[in-house]
Amino acid sequence: MLELKGKVAVVTGGSRGIGKGICEVLAEQGADIAILDILEEDGNKTASELAEKNVKASFYNCDVTNKEKVDQDIAQIIKDFGQIDILVNDAGFDKIELFLKLDPSWWDKIIDLNYKHFIYTNHAVLPHMVERKSGRIINIGSDAGRGGSTGEAVYSGAKGAVIAFTKTIAREFARFQITSNCVCPGPTVTPMTIAQADEDFAGKINRAVEGAIPLRRLGQPRDIANAVAFFASEEAGYITGQILSVSGGLTMF
Ligand SMILES: NC(=O)c1ccc[n+]([C@@H]2O[C@H](COP(=O)([O-])OP(=O)(O)OC[C@H]3O[C@@H](n4cnc5c(N)ncnc54)[C@H](O)[C@@H]3O)[C@@H](O)[C@H]2O)c1
Repeated sequence: MLELKGKVAVVTGGSRGIGKGICEVLAEQGADIAILDILEEDGNKTASELAEKNVKASFYNCDVTNKEKVDQDIAQIIKDFGQIDILVNDAGFDKIELFLKLDPSWWDKIIDLNYKHFIYTNHAVLPHMVERKSGRIINIGSDAGRGGSTGEAVYSGAKGAVIAFTKTIAREFARFQITSNCVCPGPTVTPMTIAQADEDFAGKINRAVEGAIPLRRLGQPRDIANAVAFFASEEAGYITGQILSVSGGLTMF
């Protein structure tokens, strides 16, 4: 078991879905957890479930596309928890539609959440990690950002940007013993994908992809979380700038 006792992890998008799975696995390994999310009821529920695992856990109602609010809440978390050792950027969403059919009003929303948010949180947390000469950053990308994905052109571009950003941060901050890695989920069962399954086009794509997964099942949040926990651990201290797909073998980059 990877030991994270005494570590403090910030998880964006931790209220539900993959982010919640990440919070659970990190907490089971002893980490205290600060959740940044906009779903207050779910976030408070997740935080109280985590507290039952004998760790400190708090929810911060934060729209991570708002840079000022991110700066404010990261400063508050450092006050409340004393330090930040691990930053996991998970919040994200997509509106699945063919590129020419997607209304341009979606473009900025998709880019703000799936790329700019990662810039904001990294920028807010890195000075603190540099000062402490240690840190683990794990960004949740997507295989759409590695191989492209029909119906997800703008999202794929944003996730591709996250991958390049992860590597550059890894290069710039390695001398401070800060690592930056990216976990790319394949199709994973979460409230987001369950909602998409009701949409005609997105549902069709999701069902088609499921049959093509070599390990013969969709991912679960904890499948992704286990990879995140490894990158967050002391044991992964010599691994940085890496992109890991967790997709049941659907993609083999
Ligand atoms: N589920 C999949 O199949 C899949 C595949 C590849 C990548 N991903 C990525 O995994 C991550 C999690 O996806 P999920 O399926 O768990 O989605 P989800 O919708 O179930 O959970 C996303 C979480 O992010 C939060 N969030 C959304 N906008 C926010 C904002 N502005 N500020 C703060 N929090 C916000 C939501 O409230 C929610 O708690 C995303 O980055 C997504 O792109 C998911």
